[in-house]
Amino acid sequence: MTNWTPALSTGVPLIDEHHRIIFQWLAELERASADQRTLFGVYAITRLKHYIRDHFTAEEALMESAAYPKLAEHMAAHAEFRNRLGELQIRSIEQDISEETVQFLRDWLVQHIATTDMAYVPYLKAKNGARN
Ligand SMILES: [Fe+2]
Ligand SMILES: [Fe+2]
Repeated sequence: MTNWTPALSTGVPLIDEHHRIIFQWLAELERASADQRTLFGVYAITRLKHYIRDHFTAEEALMESAAYPKLAEHMAAHAEFRNRLGELQIRSIEQDISEETVQFLRDWLVQHIATTDMAYVPYLKAKNGARN
């Protein structure tokens, strides 16, 4: 099952809320894949892509406002993943979302949140307290 877990919590409520919703869309995608529902798969990966785009934009603005020193590196990781998602979205029109695709997305997201996102948390907290 594809769920957000408290182990992935950044302690920043807005970011955690975004991440939870991302995993909800990933779970929808997993259902579409398991049931081989092509149109639902296209819909779910499109919603996931759009939600992730908005989340990345919000996250980048927060990192920038906190003068996070690794912003460029983080943005490059986001851009690469966005491109990959775009390719997978196009492919989903012709071919059902595969289990491997869901696995790839889940692994990337878990790894990214657990390491890359976690790294900016102290900077955000230093700037904003725990208010975000
Ligand atoms: Fe990120
Ligand atoms: Fe994130």
